[in-house]
Amino acid sequence: MKEIKKVCVAGGGQMGKQIALCAAINGFDVWITDTLPQVAEKLQPWAEEYLAGRVAKGKLTQEAAAAADARFHVASSLEEAAEGADLVIEAILEDQQIKEDFFRKVSALVSEDTIIATNSSFMASSLFVHCVTNPARLANFHYFNPALVMKLIEVVQGPHTSQDTIDSLIAFAKANGKTPIWVKKEIEGFIANRIAKAVSVEAFWLAEQGYATPQDIDTAVENGLNYPLGPFKLLDFAGIDIAFNTRKREYEATGKKSVGYDLLEAKVKAGKLGRKTGKGFYEYHK
Ligand SMILES: NC(=O)c1ccc[n+]([C@@H]2O[C@H](COP(=O)([O-])OP(=O)(O)OC[C@H]3O[C@@H](n4cnc5c(N)ncnc54)[C@H](O)[C@@H]3O)[C@@H](O)[C@H]2O)c1
Repeated sequence: MKEIKKVCVAGGGQMGKQIALCAAINGFDVWITDTLPQVAEKLQPWAEEYLAGRVAKGKLTQEAAAAADARFHVASSLEEAAEGADLVIEAILEDQQIKEDFFRKVSALVSEDTIIATNSSFMASSLFVHCVTNPARLANFHYFNPALVMKLIEVVQGPHTSQDTIDSLIAFAKANGKTPIWVKKEIEGFIANRIAKAVSVEAFWLAEQGYATPQDIDTAVENGLNYPLGPFKLLDFAGIDIAFNTRKREYEATGKKSVGYDLLEAKVKAGKLGRKTGKGFYEYHK
């Protein structure tokens, strides 16, 4: 198994920053990078504020917080972040072309045995096999939002992924205090999101057919099935654009619009992307 000490996280958005800080808290040397300077410059203050909050709540000692802070580095370029990395976690935009460009670039920067993992919500790592040398070290490593809190990580083995890569990622997930599962065969969307999607398809159908409002459907799922969040609230939380982009790719590939396509497209066009824009299926006030 590969020993992981230095971790490079690409993308300092909702997921990447939490993935990076989680690893820093758990003793890894982390270097995070984002192509947008206005995102990158907020990462260190954000990490410090989060760590201070944990200390105030008695969840971390002052020493542990200071050590985590010292291990959390914001790099000014991918070159700097990837230098000597044992593991690269890609958490950039959910766009195949952007990810392909990223994998080509990072593959040329790191050594042949650096593990390269994608946190994509739906895209299997096979899509990127042609972008990296030695694809035996390429896999999906799928966190859930918020990554500092949620326990599950899906470790997905493509036909190209070596068992050693899977074992190393499972060990890394456990060292981060997570509960990994091994998805033995690649499938788009993996396990949890496929199940969530099946629920969401039914919920959209019921809403579109006028059986109940999205809000009442959420109330039914939360109070009748004990799900912590209904499907529409979950979409607001994760970002409606992410769900829409997946359906759009499906539509482009099959020519068939999935249930809820038009409703999601209308939300995206109106800039109602969920929590991050303050409006989605619900309204959010800071
Ligand atoms: N949001 C979720 O609930 C969730 C859950 C699990 C997985 N994911 C996946 O994680 C990935 C990131 O999602 P997110 O919600 O954090 O998105 P986000 O939009 O919040 O953040 C993405 C960040 O990547 C940066 N970026 C774009 N290209 C880059 C590059 N080449 N190098 C470095 N940074 C780059 C952007 O500037 C942005 O800050 C996506 O693939 C998404 O499917 C998201």
